[in-house]
Order: sequence, then structure tokens, then C-alpha cells
Amino acid sequence: MITKIVKIEQVKEQKEALHEAGEILRSGGLVAFPTETVYGLGANGLDAEACAGIYAAKGRPSDNPLILHVANRSMVEQIAAVIPPLAEKLMAAFCPGPITLIMQRKAIVPDRITGGLSTVGIRMPENDVARALIQAAGVPIAAPSANISGRPSPTSAELTARDLDGRIPLILDGGPCHFGVESTIVDCTGNKAVILRPGAITREMLVELLGEEMVAMDPALVGADVVPRAPGMKYTHYAPKAPLTLIEGMPTRMVRAFQREVVRLQGEGQVVGVMASHEVLAGLKEILPAELMADYGHQGNLPSIAANIYEALRSFDDKPADVLLGEGTTDQGLGLAIMNRLHKASGFRTIRA
Ligand code: TXA
Ligand code: MG
Repeated sequence: MITKIVKIEQVKEQKEALHEAGEILRSGGLVAFPTETVYGLGANGLDAEACAGIYAAKGRPSDNPLILHVANRSMVEQIAAVIPPLAEKLMAAFCPGPITLIMQRKAIVPDRITGGLSTVGIRMPENDVARALIQAAGVPIAAPSANISGRPSPTSAELTARDLDGRIPLILDGGPCHFGVESTIVDCTGNKAVILRPGAITREMLVELLGEEMVAMDPALVGADVVPRAPGMKYTHYAPKAPLTLIEGMPTRMVRAFQREVVRLQGEGQVVGVMASHEVLAGLKEILPAELMADYGHQGNLPSIAANIYEALRSFDDKPADVLLGEGTTDQGLGLAIMNRLHKASGFRTIRA
């Protein structure tokens, strides 16, 4: 299959391209598209056959449910059995935006896409192209991140093409994603808002809106040895091709810790790649060639780190690195989402600085 990549610069001026994309979705095909978090791989979310194509293209385990993307409230009502008061509050505050709300589903949502759960994840993206595409399709769009299962999520059309070229007919190119990490998933089916996956709508923002006692974290996120409630969170994820180890600790100790570890690994004859801040990489210039460095932004600049981590992890795919070292950051605010992805990408291998 030939994969067409169509650049969408002005949603209003490119009605035809969006109409064509909507047509592909309505007739059961797949379209990859930008959102403000990461690129999604979309299919008609009310068509079980079409959604089966998503699992096949990604190599995704069939028990891992898909979330549905909607353009407006009436689409939420089309698929949610009830909209609990908690979800109403979160929608008023954060939708459209980088958040997915878990609610009880209606029977119109195919069993195939919810992995047999009685609930469905609903996300109203803010990105113009995503919104125009959902409107053009006229149905909720099921869309996981547009990567091959287990790999880092793509944050540009080029990165999407690296995984899906030849597997789908169309990629809409809306430029790089604003946030760079997937949406915050919040379970709204109980009496508290339970964070199942941290994202750009931070725990702190939820607490400010709802109060500390109304916000909880899925125990699986805080390190306990339990099965996560977002089924996809149990799989190895976001992994680069070479094994990654994180170095975590005080920013002031980072440069020394990296220098020591790079020298030690090189002494064992290993080719080392480093994904770290500008500041840490500056301290490695003498011992590490530039092509084995990936700069993820300035130390502590969380929006920039979030926007860059997946591309930085993927930048080693075509390089000869045997092992990778990555720099950890704070777990406050957006840092919680960043560290969640980095811990998974590294299989929880960590060195303290
Ligand atoms: O930002 C995002 O959410 C991106 C963009 C494309 O919108 N999408 C995304 O989808 O990250 P995906 O499939 O890669 O991640 C969705 C996660 C999976 O871990 C899945 O297991 C979980 O949501 N999930 C889906 N439905 C669920 C449900 N009913 N209950 C709990 N978790 C659910
Ligand atoms: Mg994903």
C-alpha cells in the first residue's frame, strides 16, 4: 500500500483533503492524524471491523482498549451511558484538551474496541486538524498513538511514517505535537477522579479544581506491584531499540554521574548513547561524540522535555549505540508524566546520581 502524506497548514483552506480523509474513515479505512499530544492512528470508532485494522497495523494486543475521539458534547452523549458530575466538571475545565475521561459506555460502542470493559475512554482533542477530521468523519474516531505497539509514540508526521509507511493509506501532517506526551487518563466512574496515566493535565491541576480528597492515583502508578487499570499500561512501552538506563537525582550531581557511567561503560567496550539536558551534554563533550547525544531541552524545562523525549529516544534507532543512558527529572507537575514514560522506556532500570 502506498501511504500518502498530506500537509495541512490551514484547516479552512484544505476542506478537500479533510473531506477525503473523512471519506476513508467512513468507508472503514485508517488515517493517521496530529493531536496536541501525539499522533493518533484513527478508524471509525463505531465500526468494529475498521477498528480491527488498527490492531493489525500496530501489532497491538487485542485486549488493549481504544479510546474514542469526539468533537463536541453531543458525540460524548452518543457514546457515554451517563456523564457523572465529576466528568462534567473535568470537561468544563479541560475539554477540549489533553485529557481522556473514562465513563460507562453505551451499547453502540463495539465490544471489540473496549477489550470487553463496560467503560470507554473519551477524549476531545484541541488540535485543529484533529477536530476538523472528526467533524469530516461525522463519527467518534478510535485512535491509539500511531506507533508500532511498544515503541515510543510519534510526535510528528515523519516519525509516524517511520512506523506506519506502507501500512495505511493516509497520514495528515499537522507539524510537531504541542505537548509531546499522551493525554492524562482519568477514571470518572467512581466517587474520586483516579489518574490512570499522568499527562499534561497534571495531578496538581486536578487537585486545584476538585480538592485533594477528590483526586487519587492508580496504585500501579506509585510503584505498587499491582495490575494497572488502564490495560495498556501493563505492557512494555515507549522502548528505544537499545536498552535504556536512567540516571536520577540532584541536578547538580548529574554531570559527574553521567561522566562516571559513560567512562565505565566505554571501558567495557560498549558504545554509549546519552539522552539528556543541554547542561549535562555540555559536560560530556570530551568523552562522547555528538552523534551519540540527544538533547531533550534545558534542565528542568518540563514542557520542552515532554515535547522532545520520544523523538530523542527514537533518534538512536539508526545509530550504533549498544546501551543508552537517560537523564531523569522531577516528578512534580508535568514531570510526573515524563518520568512515567521514562521509567517504562527503561524498564525501571535506574542509577542514583
Ligand atoms: O493523547 C492520547 O491519549 C493519544 C492521542 C492519539 O489521542 N492516544 C493514546 O491512545 O495515547 P493509546 O491507545 O496509545 O493509549 C490509551 C490508553 C491505553 O493504555 C488503554 O489501555 C487505556 O488508554 N484505556 C483505553 N480504554 C480504557 C478504559 N475503558 N479503561 C481504562 N483504560 C483504558
Ligand atoms: Mg500508545
